[in-house]
Amino acid sequence: MKSYIVGNWKLNFTVGEASIYLHKLQKKIPNYRDVEVIVAPSALALQTLSLQIDRHKMKLAAQNAYHRDYGAFTGEISFSQLRGIADYCIIGHSERRYIFREDDKVIQKKVEAAVRNKITPILCVGETESERAFGETADVIRDQVIGGLAEVSEEDIDKVIIAYEPVWAISSTKSAKLAAPDEIAEVVKLIRKILKDAYGEKTAENVPILFGGSVNPSNAGAYLTVPGVNGLLVGGSSLILTEFADIIEVAKRVKS
Ligand code: PGA
Repeated sequence: MKSYIVGNWKLNFTVGEASIYLHKLQKKIPNYRDVEVIVAPSALALQTLSLQIDRHKMKLAAQNAYHRDYGAFTGEISFSQLRGIADYCIIGHSERRYIFREDDKVIQKKVEAAVRNKITPILCVGETESERAFGETADVIRDQVIGGLAEVSEEDIDKVIIAYEPVWAISSTKSAKLAAPDEIAEVVKLIRKILKDAYGEKTAENVPILFGGSVNPSNAGAYLTVPGVNGLLVGGSSLILTEFADIIEVAKRVKS
C-alpha cells in the first residue's frame, strides 16, 4: 500500500499564498510513486490550485463539503462541485465535530456523498482527553467508525481513508500532548478489527489508516512505523514548507 501524507492547512493562507506554497513545494519534491502527497487548502483556493497542480506529484483535498449536490443551501459547497477539482475530502475533523457540531449522522451523509461523487473521503475519528480518561476510547472510536461508514457498501469501502486523530494530541488543543506509538497502535488495531467485522478481513487490510496529531519532521518516522499506520495527517507543520517537505522525505525513506 502507498503511504499518504496529507497537509491540512485549515483556515490559513490567502489564495496567493497558497499558490506560491504549491509552486515551491512542487519544485522541491520529486515524484514519489509510493508516497501520495495531498494538500487541503481553503475551499476558496481549490480552483486556482487545481489549475496549477502537477497531479503526478500531488493531489488536492477539500477540508469539508455539504452532502447535497445542489439546491437552497446558502453558504455551502457540494461534493459534486468539487469533482474534477479535488480528489479527496477531509470529513469529520474534530474541529468540524466540536466547533461546528457535526455529528455522526451528518458525517455519514458526507462520506456517502463523497464516495458517490468519486471523491475519496478521509474520515477523521478520535477521542477527546476526557473520553480517554474515562476509558471510553474504544466506544467512541467504534461509534465514529461505524457511524461514519454506515452508508458505505462493501464494494466501496476500499475508496475510503480513515485518519485516527486523538483530539488531545492535535496541536491547537490546549495543552496538547504527543501520542505514544503504542497508544496509536492499539487504536489502529481496533479500527482494523471494526472494519474486519463489518467488511471482512481482506477488505479491512486495504483501507489506509493515517495518524494525525502534532506530527512534525522529528516524530514522523516513529509515527509512520507504528504497525498498521499508512500515513500522516499534518496540521501546523504542513504550513511550513520545509517541514512538510521533510515529512514527505521521511515517508519516502520509511517506504524504501
Ligand atoms: P496538528 O493538526 O498537526 O497541528 O496537530 C492535525 C489536524 O488537526 O489535522
